[in-house]
Parts: sequence; C-alpha cells; structure tokens
Amino acid sequence: MMNIAVAQSGGPTCVINASLVGVFKESLKHPEIDAIFGSVNGIEGIIENHLVDLKSIILTNYDMELLRQTPSTVLGSCRYKLPDWREDEEVYKKIAATLKQRNIGAFLYIGGNDSMDTVNKLSEYFSQIGLDIKVIGIPKTIDNDLCITDHTPGFGSAAKYVATTMHEITRDSIVYSIPSVTIVEIMGRHAGWLTASSAVLHSMGETAPHLVYVPEAEFSIERFLTDVRQEMSKHKAVIIAVSEGIEVPEGVQSGVVDNFGHKYLSGIGKHLESTVRTEIGCKVRSIELNVMQRCSSHLGSKTDIDEAEEIGAAGIRCALSGETGKVLVFRRIEDVPYTVVIETADAGDVANQEKFLPKNYINSAGNNIRRFALNYFLPLIQGELDLIMDNGVPKHFAIHESVLK
Ligand code: F6P
Repeated sequence: MMNIAVAQSGGPTCVINASLVGVFKESLKHPEIDAIFGSVNGIEGIIENHLVDLKSIILTNYDMELLRQTPSTVLGSCRYKLPDWREDEEVYKKIAATLKQRNIGAFLYIGGNDSMDTVNKLSEYFSQIGLDIKVIGIPKTIDNDLCITDHTPGFGSAAKYVATTMHEITRDSIVYSIPSVTIVEIMGRHAGWLTASSAVLHSMGETAPHLVYVPEAEFSIERFLTDVRQEMSKHKAVIIAVSEGIEVPEGVQSGVVDNFGHKYLSGIGKHLESTVRTEIGCKVRSIELNVMQRCSSHLGSKTDIDEAEEIGAAGIRCALSGETGKVLVFRRIEDVPYTVVIETADAGDVANQEKFLPKNYINSAGNNIRRFALNYFLPLIQGELDLIMDNGVPKHFAIHESVLK
C-alpha cells in the first residue's frame, strides 16, 4: 500500500479542480493507493509538511461535481522556484522527508511550464538519491503556452470566456451614433493564444474583433494608429483585442516580477486608450479582462472540464505504471470530429519553455487572425456544464480557511 500526494500550482484556471477530481477519482479505483493527500499551496505544502487528507474533505460525488464547477485551486497555489539540487539541496531534503514520512509513492503536480520545472528537478533528484517516488506533471494554464501538448487544460474555458465577453462588448459598443474604439486587454504573457481566440467570433459572421494584436507579431504605435483609422473608416465601432504581452514603451508596465522572473503584465489597454484619445480624439474605452478570464467558471467549456479530469486520471495511471519525470499531454488527431489522445512527454522537454502562436495563424498585416486558424480554437470551447446553483449564483466547493492555514 502507498499514499499519493497532489498539489496545484501557478496561475489559476477554471479547471484545475477538475484535474484534482480526476486524480482523486482514479486513485479511489486502485486498491494499492491508501491515503490521498492534498498539499496546501503547491510545493510549499510539501516543503512545510502541510498536507490535508482529501478523503476526509471530498466526501461525495456531489462534492466532486461542485469541484468541477469551482474555479481556481481549492488547495491554494504558489509560484515557487526550486533551486538546482546540485547547488542547494536543503529544500529537496525537506521535500523528501515529508514524502517519506507520509509514505507517498507518487506526487502529482498540476501546473504550467514553471511547475514542470519542479517535476523535472524533483524526479531527477529522487533518481539521484535512489528514492522511489514517482513525480508526474498534469498540465494547466490559460496561456496555452506549454510545449508538446496540443493545448492545455484551462485554455478552452478562458477562450470561451474571452470570445463570449468580446461578443457582448461588441453589442454594447455599437449603440451610439458616434464613432468609438473599444480596446480589450487579454492575458497570456508572451503567447497570443488567448487573444487570438477572440477571433472565433468571425466564424459567426461578426466583423469584430476588427484588430487583434498578439506578442508574436511586431507592434508599433504608428502602425496601430494607422490600423485604427483604417478600421474607423469602415466601422462605426471598432473593437480591438490586445494581448497583455505585446511590446510596449518603457514605463507602461510596473516592472514587478515574480519568483520565475516573469513580469506582472498589465496596462497596455489603458496606454492604447489614452493614445487613441490624444491622437484620434474619438470616444474610446479600454477593458482589462484581468482575472475574470481565468476564474469565470460559469462560462467554463465542458470539453475543457472533461479533458482536465481525464488528464488528471491519466496522471495516476502513469505513476502506477512506473513512470516518473513525465508530463501528460494531448495529441490532437482531428479537428472534426474533434478527437484527442493523451500521451506522455519528458518533463525536461516541457519545463521552462514556451509554445507560441504559429506565425501562419497571423495575417500578413500582423493585426488579425486568419480564418483557417479558428479550426484549432473552436473544438476547445464547446459545451457547457449544467451548473449547480445556490441563491441564483453558481455554487462552489471550498475547503475551510482554518484547514488551509
Ligand atoms: O498563469 C498565467 C497567468 O494568468 C498569465 O496569463 C498572467 O500574465 C499571469 O498568470 C498573472 O500572474 P499572477 O496570477 O501572479 O498575477
């Protein structure tokens, strides 16, 4: 008999808890697994031996259904960078001590490319010291920037929110007779996947978003103003999607960075808004979708939620088959009918790398998304959950603060 530990890490998505459900449900099917521990605040919980017994927290199928519709990380998260174990072993010793003390045979880490760095380093370290604990990565990120996998859990729901919100903003923007510009700032760091997903509206006959700016295309304010003027000559209300990660003039971003050296990106929308106001002088509004795009589970994609659960379950099967240092990935077989299979990749090939929007998805002017690229996005945003409501509001599953303290 062995126990397993699972943790959630990095920036939230709508479906990280669905992956936790996958890990939990699958573990219950295997008699060789006894306790299922949840680590509080990602790897920090393992370092500090702060684990909770998930079997005493997730009690029923109803709880699991609620978890599937609860955004973010029910166990808390972290952005913790492990040092190189060859240079600094202290923290690794603490991790190994917790896992040994709790008789943990497999550790599953649900996270993005930074978390896969943890999976890679830990599995290397355990092999080095001859400790037989399997370490497996379950992908997640709204940025969709993980290498090897076709897409990441969390992206489809965020894309569905972005497209839906953009659609609603479009309706709101066209009510007045005066010309206007609306700029929507979308997350995604250095990758334009999420911003590009707003273009799925074109498949419904919408002309909006009229301009789409992603970090993978060159950006200049002069070119931007020319584009806006051109679109204003065709449309009364111009709607623009802009990625938080496009190149911006010095001083627009705060310059603050996290433990992995990633900049906190925010502010390009406001900057472009004031540029349009000064240079063009029309009605202009900017909207930063901010954390809503990664926690709006009321608009979660059922495809995304189901896949997140399946890939969590596959993580347990992978660990039980004796693998370690692996990340579960999706390989797309077909767009229509949409078919994917789950495979494994080496964590070292996924860690700390970014997958960018293919150049051929972007039009030659570098200011919109080509129609054929929508085939990539559309299957990922299909389906909705039949939400469990409470007083007219979607119900969530939460672990009491005192347990997580
Ligand atoms: O993890 C992805 C992400 O949501 C990015 O899109 C965004 O730039 C970043 O996280 C924000 O980080 P934080 O949650 O630390 O503010």
